[in-house]
Amino acid sequence: MTERTLMLIKPDGVKRGKIGEIVRRIENKGYQIIDMKMVVPTEKLLNSHYAEHVGKPYYPSLVNYMMSGPVVVMIGEGTNIISGWRTLMGETNPTKAAPGTIRGDLGREWEEKAMMNIVHGSDSAMSAEREINLWFT
Ligand code: TYD
Ligand code: MG
Repeated sequence: MTERTLMLIKPDGVKRGKIGEIVRRIENKGYQIIDMKMVVPTEKLLNSHYAEHVGKPYYPSLVNYMMSGPVVVMIGEGTNIISGWRTLMGETNPTKAAPGTIRGDLGREWEEKAMMNIVHGSDSAMSAEREINLWFT
């Protein structure tokens, strides 16, 4: 089934010059990038994007990390891209993410309390629709 998902390259990925490497993996997989921009997210945007994480002990560090520089925001399109992109990303904790995945190969250790895991992907069709509308108003 052709789906759309929201993909982010987080500030550490941009600062470390990994945009090309990440886009290469997306395109090699056969996914289409149908829109793309760079923004420094506001706290307000992040509070909506990460609504289910507000109040968690790692949340303040997560927000500081996400606001620490520009983020690449992309809409990806492809067959089963929502779960497929999460497979390419690897699991949340970069220390545990498998080699071969973006987080496993490029993600960083824990800094302060937030995981610097370099990329984001929507976790369901509902989240994808919500997140795309949030980042591309
Ligand atoms: P989550 O949605 O659980 O992970 P994913 O990004 O794989 O969908 O969490 C959102 C972000 O919050 C995650 O990418 C990094 C951060 N986070 C932490 O820093 N520590 C934690 O214990 C959790 C669960 C998340
Ligand atoms: Mg998530």
